[in-house]
Amino acid sequence: MSRRRQIYEGKAKILYEGPEPGTIIQYFKDDATAFNAQKKGTINGKGVINNRISEHVFTRLAHIGIPTHFIRRLNMREQLVRQCEIIPLEVVVRNVAAGSISQRLGIEEGEQLPHTLIEYYFKDDALNDPMVAEEHIACFGWASNEEMQDISSMAIRINDFLCGMFSAINIRLIDFKLEFGRIWDGDYSRVILADEISPDGCRLWDMVSGEKLDKDRFRRDLGGEEEAYQEVARRLGLLQDDGNPGEVFDLSAHRTKLRGTPVKKK
Ligand code: TMP
Ligand code: ASP
Repeated sequence: MSRRRQIYEGKAKILYEGPEPGTIIQYFKDDATAFNAQKKGTINGKGVINNRISEHVFTRLAHIGIPTHFIRRLNMREQLVRQCEIIPLEVVVRNVAAGSISQRLGIEEGEQLPHTLIEYYFKDDALNDPMVAEEHIACFGWASNEEMQDISSMAIRINDFLCGMFSAINIRLIDFKLEFGRIWDGDYSRVILADEISPDGCRLWDMVSGEKLDKDRFRRDLGGEEEAYQEVARRLGLLQDDGNPGEVFDLSAHRTKLRGTPVKKK
């Protein structure tokens, strides 16, 4: 691999300078953290699977008109994305009570919420990502009112799309986290979906058994995290049943090559 400039190393990903100005390479690690990195570990093969799942989800979201940073997957662990200025908010969408909302408000995990909730957290590890209101976001200028309009309407559309996508494979989408960025065109900017969408930042429960198929397996020491991530990828049709994603990658490369080849009519 050629020498590339590392821009940033996060908990689950490393960002490198991309091949062209305005691009970045996202490298997906197997590292897993929880509780603001107080708990650390690895989930073997997680990076490969999250790269593939996130590619799939971002590509499908682009098809329904959600602007995203995703350009293309480069290899097993890397994808090329548009560089953007990350808006310092974690946008959490909840359909069913679980995790911090259950703890904070004493709602039993698994209880369907009366309607979908969007919560905002200020991205700051030193402060432990505190929950903030839209008032704080406006007051401190983390995002403008227009940007918040875009963010909330995209979050709802993404939720509707993902609920359908997962229910088709017998998975209940409990909640998930999104991050957005802005890209500049002269004096104007627009908001695009950034980061990743994978079992690291979603709660995914099997519809029949209620089995957790996401990072809660790691957070709560349930075991079987590798199998859970693989199961999500498998149900999405991204893995062969033996769990080896190799064939899928080779095939897509092959297809690109074939596209330009004229096909003779029989
Ligand atoms: P929470 O219940 O812990 O607030 O998490 C809500 C959702 O957001 C859950 O699907 C996990 C995801 N999440 C992240 O992706 N990163 C984080 O740092 C946190 C706290 C949650
Ligand atoms: N990834 C986050 C951290 O380690 C928290 C989580 O996903 O639970 O801080």
